[in-house]
Amino acid sequence: MGSVTEVELSEDRILRVIGPAKIDVVTGRVLAVGSKFSAGSSLVVHKFRSYGIKILTHSKLKITLGEGARVEEARSGEEVVDEWLRIVEYILKKCLGKLCKVLIVGPPESGKSTFTVFLANYFREVGVRVGVVDGDIGQEDVLIPTTVALTEVSKPVLWLRELEPLIFRFVGCISPQYCYSESILAIRELVDEAIELGFKAIVVNTDGWVGTTSGIEHKLTIIRWVKPDLVVVTDREVFNYLSRCVSNLVEVIYAPKPAVVRERSRDERRELRAQAYRRYFSRGKVRRVKLSEVGLLNIRALAGRVLTLDELKELLKIPDSDLNKIVFSSRFGDTIFIITEEFIDTAVSHDERKIVAINLRDLRGAIVGLMGERLSDVGIGLILGVDLNSQEVITLTPWDGPIRGLVLGRVKLGEDFEEVGGMSKCIL
Ligand SMILES: Nc1ncnc2c1ncn2[C@@H]1O[C@H](COP(=O)(O)OP(=O)(O)OP(=O)(O)O)[C@@H](O)[C@H]1O
Ligand SMILES: [Mg+2]
Repeated sequence: MGSVTEVELSEDRILRVIGPAKIDVVTGRVLAVGSKFSAGSSLVVHKFRSYGIKILTHSKLKITLGEGARVEEARSGEEVVDEWLRIVEYILKKCLGKLCKVLIVGPPESGKSTFTVFLANYFREVGVRVGVVDGDIGQEDVLIPTTVALTEVSKPVLWLRELEPLIFRFVGCISPQYCYSESILAIRELVDEAIELGFKAIVVNTDGWVGTTSGIEHKLTIIRWVKPDLVVVTDREVFNYLSRCVSNLVEVIYAPKPAVVRERSRDERRELRAQAYRRYFSRGKVRRVKLSEVGLLNIRALAGRVLTLDELKELLKIPDSDLNKIVFSSRFGDTIFIITEEFIDTAVSHDERKIVAINLRDLRGAIVGLMGERLSDVGIGLILGVDLNSQEVITLTPWDGPIRGLVLGRVKLGEDFEEVGGMSKCIL
């Protein structure tokens, strides 16, 4: 049980709440992440998060604090709520009466996701139908990391995890460096679909890869193809750089990050990702997917021409002891794929051929995108195994409709849905 305190605060004061905490508004009205909460309502701050809460009218609050939680009054200059308010009011004015796309850019832990929600809440409060495309594939809150998802902000929220995804794209990795084009295309497609679905404001959150010129180039490419009306940047240096690049093409605005926040360690960020995977896959059921009935978008080994053991022996010099361990082999062009149940030393001699050796056990836990009709993204699965006798992939997924295709990701999960090291490339 947490400790409970009651506080009474006058208008305009700002409280910083570091979770886990629950705040019941007993009397008065407060503003949290761009949403107004009146007497009788309550808000929950997750244990890895903190927020600045502005008192709008003299309020009495009942605050329940969990382990490690704290509540304190923000000192002048620490909180950014008033500046963020000014910025969202400016954006609202700019967007009045037209379709508006706003892109949020900044480094990790700089308030991107919170500003995204702050702005979206504000659009909703003034009656604009608003969608959020969470394009941060590493810290994706709407669905799971490895995806980009669209959600509608249809109620006051503090965190995107409180909302349900409408549609998504499977990107397959958690660092945009390794899925550069897919991460950009996924965002662009979801923005287009959001427009088709009738959203009048679309707020796009992006990943935090902005510390290098390559990272900025990735953001500039997103800008080029998404064509936002405004870009909001949560870091001064990135703002200056980006402004010099594109301010003649699109308006770039600086939104400062709060000075004091609940910072998350690497492990906590991993745990946050694990929570998202857990939430999604714990609703999953085991499904067997017949390889002959699906398209294999990057599962190359299984798509090659099957080799008999004799053919393989002619192509490669493999010791007999290792040959027994090979359960499947195929060939495409100059590449030979061999699949084994257990690890073998792949330094087999060959003449100028590329050999891809795959250990089936390595695939267990790999994330795989599931495609439906017309190459649509319908679900995500976890590979539990590959049965080469029945030619089936066994997956765990909450998706229960038809599966027409598989696209292998580069993330692998272990017990308890923790990431267990990525796969550097698609290995099948
Ligand atoms: N006004 C605020 N006052 C105090 N803490 C805040 C405020 N706004 C956001 N935070 C906290 O700051 C941290 C970083 O914010 P946020 O998650 O929005 O940043 P981000 O750039 O999206 O990070 P990530 O790289 O993890 O996606 C979070 O713990 C968040 O709860
Ligand atoms: Mg974020």
